[in-house]
Amino acid sequence: MAWRSVGTSNADLIRQLRDYGVIATEAVADAMTATDRKHYSPRNPYMDAPQPIGGSVTISAPHMHAFALEYLRDQLKPGAHVLDVGSGSGYLTACFYRYIKAKGENENTRIVGIEHQVSLVQLSKSNLNADDSSMLNSGQMLIVEGDGRLGHAALAPYDAIHVGAAAPETPNELLNQLARGGRLIVPVGPEGGTQYMQQYDKDASGKVQMTRLMGVMYVPLTDLRS
Ligand SMILES: C[S@@+](CC[C@H](N)C(=O)[O-])C[C@H]1O[C@@H](n2cnc3c(N)ncnc32)[C@H](O)[C@@H]1O
Repeated sequence: MAWRSVGTSNADLIRQLRDYGVIATEAVADAMTATDRKHYSPRNPYMDAPQPIGGSVTISAPHMHAFALEYLRDQLKPGAHVLDVGSGSGYLTACFYRYIKAKGENENTRIVGIEHQVSLVQLSKSNLNADDSSMLNSGQMLIVEGDGRLGHAALAPYDAIHVGAAAPETPNELLNQLARGGRLIVPVGPEGGTQYMQQYDKDASGKVQMTRLMGVMYVPLTDLRS
């Protein structure tokens, strides 16, 4: 891909993503600049490629995080409920938090990362605390352990849902937990086959419209019990 790059620092990486047009808006650049990848990616934090973080899992590439923030930005408002499915390292969850905080304080804001590997739940909490412990301490950001295909009903409905691993079909429960006016983005397609990042918008009447955004390559959402 033309924009594959390596930064000498987090700020340099984000500047390059901006220069290549992957990051389109100042607010996304600010949230990603404020969230230094060194806290989340022990290897090559400033390379625009997925990196191993343990548990046979990778932190997604910076350009995919940038796209996620850009596609969801209209839903990322103070008071919003946001669900990050397969939150892994915690990086994107932190970006969602910072993006919304920069727009304004609202006691109702809730950013939820859901991850099914216990070791990654612990790792992400420790990453987030190394970055800035006020995020989790605020009570407005939560990392929960669970099967993200089922969402997190306790804090539904969500204005924005991001899924960081591919579903063979769109998980219905996530559509059910999407708020009216909300947007879900999810990679859909078989493991190793043709996958698309799909966007689902629920209108004020509850009707859902799907848009195919781009072809992608993601690891699958999995079932830990099988
Ligand atoms: C490609 S990684 C991306 C992680 C994260 N977005 C990041 O960039 O650090 C996909 C993540 O989805 C998680 N995952 C896979 N299936 C899941 C499921 N059913 N429920 C919750 N998490 C799941 C994996 O454990 C992994 O952390």
